[in-house]
Amino acid sequence: MSSSSKVFLILFVCIFSLLILHGTSTEFEVGEKLTKGWEVPLPKHPHVYNEWAQKNRFKVNDTLHFRYKKDSVMVVTNSEYDKCGSAQPLFFSNNGDTTFVLDRPGLFYFISGVTGHCPKGQKMIVKVLDVENSSDDDQQSGNQTAAEDTKKKSDATQALGHWSLPSFMVLFIVGYHIMG
Ligand SMILES: *[C@@H]1O[C@H](CO)[C@@H](O)[C@H](O)[C@H]1NC(C)=O
Ligand SMILES: *[C@@H]1O[C@H](CO)[C@@H](O)[C@H](O)[C@H]1NC(C)=O
Ligand SMILES: *[C@@H]1O[C@H](CO)[C@@H](O)[C@H](O)[C@H]1NC(C)=O
Repeated sequence: MSSSSKVFLILFVCIFSLLILHGTSTEFEVGEKLTKGWEVPLPKHPHVYNEWAQKNRFKVNDTLHFRYKKDSVMVVTNSEYDKCGSAQPLFFSNNGDTTFVLDRPGLFYFISGVTGHCPKGQKMIVKVLDVENSSDDDQQSGNQTAAEDTKKKSDATQALGHWSLPSFMVLFIVGYHIMG
């Protein structure tokens, strides 16, 4: 294969996989390997759920999967989250296997509805990224590019999604080295 067709092949594969990645919403297993599902955290890790949430990037239409026994999932307001209680949660489920769709950008406050569990740390704040608006964040730090260039770049970033441009470059470079 000539080196230019190699480049085109890699470009094609990269763009294709990124479009698939971008168009698919992700299901997150709450706590993943840090916990055994949605449960009262161990006393030495009372903030395990927020630590887990902060490590992840959630976007609109991603889902959270809560696995638990004899417990419940509530979505509440900020102040109810602080108080660990709500008479009328925005969302409630106790079927042991809850899937919650993050259907808007912004903050979601999750607590356990079982008395005593939330004060022991079974609670979590999830921040859902506003993809449409966050696409400009990366460009604000460095203003070295010309205005026209910046515009082109932000159009491309918008088309592929917020994080895709850097991932694209990494994929491309890795692909080029493997094939070359
Ligand atoms: C989320 O899903 C809804 C319903 O399927 C859809 O109308 C909306 O455009 C989606 N939003 C994003 C940002 O993907
Ligand atoms: C993006 O930000 C603008 C102004 O800051 C706001 O008016 C608009 O509603 C935001 N878009 C979304 C999708 O939140
Ligand atoms: C960045 O560049 C834009 C136009 O290219 C200019 O309007 C803006 O003032 C610049 N910002 C800074 C912080 O230099």
